[in-house]
Order: sequence, then C-alpha cells, then structure tokens
Amino acid sequence: MRIVAVMNYKGGVGKTTLTANLGAVAASRGLKVLLLDLDPQTNLTFSFFPVDDWHERIRNEHTIKRWFDGDAPGREFSLAELVLTPEPVNRLVGHSGGRLDLISSHLGLINIDLQLAAHLGGTTTLDSSQRRFLELHGCLRRGLQDERFSEYDLVLIDCAPNFGIVTKTAIVASEQILVPAKADYLSTLGLEYLAGSCDELKRDFNNFAHHNGGFGGHRPITPEILGVVFTMVQIYSQQPTAAHHEYIQEVKQNPEMPVLHNMVRNSTKHFSGSGEGGIPAMLRHPQKDDVVREFGRLTDEVLGKLGMSAGVIE
Ligand SMILES: Nc1ncnc2c1ncn2[C@@H]1O[C@H](COP(=O)(O)OP(=O)(O)OP(=O)(O)O)[C@@H](O)[C@H]1O
Ligand SMILES: [Mg+2]
Repeated sequence: MRIVAVMNYKGGVGKTTLTANLGAVAASRGLKVLLLDLDPQTNLTFSFFPVDDWHERIRNEHTIKRWFDGDAPGREFSLAELVLTPEPVNRLVGHSGGRLDLISSHLGLINIDLQLAAHLGGTTTLDSSQRRFLELHGCLRRGLQDERFSEYDLVLIDCAPNFGIVTKTAIVASEQILVPAKADYLSTLGLEYLAGSCDELKRDFNNFAHHNGGFGGHRPITPEILGVVFTMVQIYSQQPTAAHHEYIQEVKQNPEMPVLHNMVRNSTKHFSGSGEGGIPAMLRHPQKDDVVREFGRLTDEVLGKLGMSAGVIE
C-alpha cells in the first residue's frame, strides 16, 4: 500500500481534480484505490456522491469528522468503518478488477483543527506535550494501519489548502507528497515554503519520537515530495505557452524540487465542474483525446515513481 498526500497551501490549483481523476484512472487500470477527503469543502466527496445522498446517508455517521471528533481523536472506532464504495465509478472500473473507495469529509471538519489544537495544550511537562504531539499528529497514520486497509494498492489523501493539524496528520501518514501547482507566480512562490514546512514537521515528529523512546510505537516518518504536477497548463502548438513555460522552467531549476514530466493541461471542457454523475472527467471520455491520453501518461509516471505499474496506457 502506497499512501500519497495531495497538497498545496494554495487554493484552487487542481488538487481535488487531480486526486479524483488519478484515483479513477488508477482504479480503471485494476488497482484498489482508497481516496481520503480531508478538506472541509468536501469537494472530493461530492465528485463521487450526490449532495442529497450525502445528507441522507453519509453526513451523520460516515465522515472523517466523526472519527476526529471526541476526547480521543481517532481512538473511538476504526477508520475502516467509514469506507464507502461509490457505485457509478465502480460500475465503470469493475471489469478491470480495480476498485475505488472513499472516506468522506464533512463541512464541520473546519472546526476540528481548533479542537485538535486544544488537545495539544494543557500539559505541564515537556515529555507529556511531546507525547500528545505524537499521538495527535500520528493518529491518521495509526488509523490507516488497520488490517482492513492492507488490500488497497494506493491511498490518495486530498488535503485542504492549509497546513493545519488535520493536514499535518496526512503528511505524517504519507510516504509521498504530490504537489499540484499552477504555472503562475503566486502558485510557484509557496513551493519552497511548503517543502520547508514538511521538513520541519518531519524533524519535530522524529525528534520527539526518538526522545520518547519510540513512544507508542511511533517509528520515524519519511514523507518526501514525489513531485510538483503542473495543472491547468495552457498548451499552444503542443507546448506550454511562453508565460507558463517560464514558471515551469523556474521551478525545474530548483534541484530540491522534483517536477513531474507530464502535466495536466487547462481544459474547461474536460475539467470544469465536479464529477458529473459521479464519474471523474478522465473516465467520461470513451473516445480518448489528447487530454485523456496526457492524463494517462501522467498516471503512469506517478505510479512508476511509486514503484507500481498497472494495466496498459492506451
Ligand atoms: N486542468 C484543468 N483545466 C480546467 N479547469 C480545471 C482543471 N483542473 C481543475 N480545474 C477547475 O479549477 C477549479 C479548482 O480545481 P480544484 O477544486 O481541483 O482545485 P483545489 O486545489 O482542490 O481547490 P481547493 O484549494 O479549493 O481545494 C475547479 O472549478 C476545477 O473544475
Ligand atoms: Mg480541493
């Protein structure tokens, strides 16, 4: 099982679109994929489930908010109890032997960061505050260690555009971080800062775990940036436009920042709106065009970098 967080502080850069489509294409290639929606906006969830259905069936009992809620976040019941199987997309990918499951978010997750922050305070000794830090930041990692998750090949976590505690639990749980970014000034500006914040979290977690003698089985974490994926790239004559090319080159010059070779091009025809009828865009186009083929190559690149391969490209 490979666990990948899809994150960027910057909002609206295509995180959710990438997560939904990457998950769906990987599932159509025969992989067992679990998507975890950690964004209170709940857009990933609504890409697979109609809003009415969510209100009727999912909202009260079957969301990640309930799991984080309470006095002992992540301790009251197993994360595996929250797994949902959206029907439309699975009807489409089932013939390959693949599957796509999802753990739903909740609009109320927005308050959970504050609740979790309150759990971090109130201790009197250094040791106990470090233990609380480990316990809290490590909760999603521990939750995903449930035996029932071992059947998944790939877990993709869609993060909110912030670096709050919920997002940090995703980084701690992940081996790899995929960073969607637009090829513009504001989107590329924050990339180094993001890498620095992830390093800082890794350092703190590992120092505290070491200091506490592997307290509670907290082994060191090693999340790494798998790569920046440029999204919404304007293509002209098979090439990114000059303005986008310039920003892409600038990021590529940074040796610390791996950049994926394949990109997601800007196409409102394909990507605007969330999944219609619960089917992500890249599976809605049976007639494969350039955009769908490009996305297939991006999926291959990501799976290859994760040491996985599945199915045929086209
Ligand atoms: N390649 C693309 N071409 C055109 N439009 C796109 C593309 N990718 C995403 N979009 C559109 O851009 C908007 C933002 O995308 P998305 O919701 O995936 O971003 P996000 O990073 O998850 O945002 P947030 O930070 O709010 O969670 C959506 O309306 C989406 O349909
Ligand atoms: Mg999003």
